[in-house]
Amino acid sequence: MTIALCPGSFDPPTNGHLDVVERASRHFERVIVAVVRNPKKQGLFEEEERVAMMKEVLSHLDNVEMIVHEGLLVDLAKESGAGVIVKGLRALSDVEYELQMAQMNASLLSQVDTVFVATDPKWSFVSSSLVKEVARLGGDVSKLVPPVVSTALARKFGTTN
Ligand code: PNS
Repeated sequence: MTIALCPGSFDPPTNGHLDVVERASRHFERVIVAVVRNPKKQGLFEEEERVAMMKEVLSHLDNVEMIVHEGLLVDLAKESGAGVIVKGLRALSDVEYELQMAQMNASLLSQVDTVFVATDPKWSFVSSSLVKEVARLGGDVSKLVPPVVSTALARKFGTTN
């Protein structure tokens, strides 16, 4: 059984992230979505809140589970037996950073391969940071994130959605 890891900050999850996880779930028997804790960066949402949102939105996929992870991704790959890391590519501008991470991870753990999924072009301009900025300034993000996320953003920023 090939286990795939879908790691990320997911602060918050967007429709682009969900698209990548859904695609991964079609190709791998088990998918572990890892919300990676970054002790150097204070996120908008607690990692546990991000996991709860992902669980709610992806509950229809019975081969997908969500966890919070702190530390090296390759350590999680070793612990969980995952042989593949799945990442989404929105545009050419993602390639440089993603390739660098993929090569670093492969140098740390040669058995792990990163597989890139082309995100649906509908979501090519969508990032968590832009979604947060627009939501913070009262803009409508309801077409870019699932309803549970736009409600949570409105609650955080004291706006309506
Ligand atoms: O959604 P993001 O912020 O682009 O995700 C980046 C993430 C969390 C996948 C990356 O920072 C990561 O893997 N962090 C874990 C720490 C680690 O293993 N670093 C070395 C890998 S290059």
